[in-house]
Amino acid sequence: MAELTRILVTGGAGFIGSHVVDALVEKGHAVGVVDSLATGNRNNLNPDAVFYEADITDARELSRVFAEFKPQVLDHHAAQISVALSSRDPAADAMTNVIGSINILEAARSAGVEHLVFASTGGALYGDPVKVPAAETTAIAPLSPYGASKASVETYLKMYHDTYGFSYTALRYANVFGPRQTAEGEAGVIAIFVNRMLKGENPVIFGDGEQQRDFVYVGDVAKANVNAIESRLEGAYNVGTGVPFSVNEIARELAIVCAFEGSFEYAEERAGEVRRVTLDASNLMRETGWQPKIQLAEGLVLTVAHQNAQMNRSI
Ligand SMILES: NC(=O)c1ccc[n+]([C@@H]2O[C@H](COP(=O)([O-])OP(=O)(O)OC[C@H]3O[C@@H](n4cnc5c(N)ncnc54)[C@H](O)[C@@H]3O)[C@@H](O)[C@H]2O)c1
Repeated sequence: MAELTRILVTGGAGFIGSHVVDALVEKGHAVGVVDSLATGNRNNLNPDAVFYEADITDARELSRVFAEFKPQVLDHHAAQISVALSSRDPAADAMTNVIGSINILEAARSAGVEHLVFASTGGALYGDPVKVPAAETTAIAPLSPYGASKASVETYLKMYHDTYGFSYTALRYANVFGPRQTAEGEAGVIAIFVNRMLKGENPVIFGDGEQQRDFVYVGDVAKANVNAIESRLEGAYNVGTGVPFSVNEIARELAIVCAFEGSFEYAEERAGEVRRVTLDASNLMRETGWQPKIQLAEGLVLTVAHQNAQMNRSI
């Protein structure tokens, strides 16, 4: 049994962060959540976690939270996650994703936090990798301000490690999907398709639909965080399945699960979209024993069941 720890999770009212909180609470850790509720939802908050409604761009507010909660570990998920918004307003993206993260790093350093886990990205960091599945050694070549902001925070983390001896894990996620992902914005193609199909609306596919992604289930991502924290894993690690699925395949599979009888609409390809990326997570598997447990088909069923329940509740 791993030692129990005081862990502060930023973005813990959001999609991935709330699953991380649940998994940590389940393991008996003492968990605090920092979230501004910008895109997060109170309904996602675990009742056994202490909630601080705070904005990571406010350094004074953060130091108050750190002084009160006294975290030993920081798990940093709070972010602006829209690639499109980052392209329209790169400064706003950097304000949350770079300046907010620097505030977190400084607060963690002053409070003597032992370890920090950062929710980074594989897809947006590697751009269009030549070789897939992409390993962590793939050149960093972001195609959007969002990807550049994540790359920048990884650079700060490395610098804090080299200069101050700061201990951290950067988890580079593939496309995460599962219950609680919202259909707002453009981030989660699965959440958007499920939402439309269950309402009987035709999903819109950008480009020819043959772009390939690596879809990893949110419960498996939460487990990767638990493993990284409990083993104080050092460095940058991919979190993905390595298995490619095209957007057309996802749409076809979901149509079956949702019993959707409409058709798919095709629209112009979006700028900055990566054509093909999957991640090689063998380093994480070797170092922590992590394995993706939920395959795509099962994950889609769980996601649709959750969304169905949500929609029935709001009728
Ligand atoms: N969803 C994916 O496929 C994916 C892939 C790679 C990386 N990530 C990263 O994982 C993390 C979580 O993403 P998600 O998909 O759960 O998105 P999300 O929008 O559901 O979660 C982000 C959370 O951060 C909070 N937040 C935003 N700005 C804040 C601020 N200034 N101060 C405090 N809280 C703030 C939001 O309210 C929300 O609860 C992000 O860092 C994201 O970049 C996600």
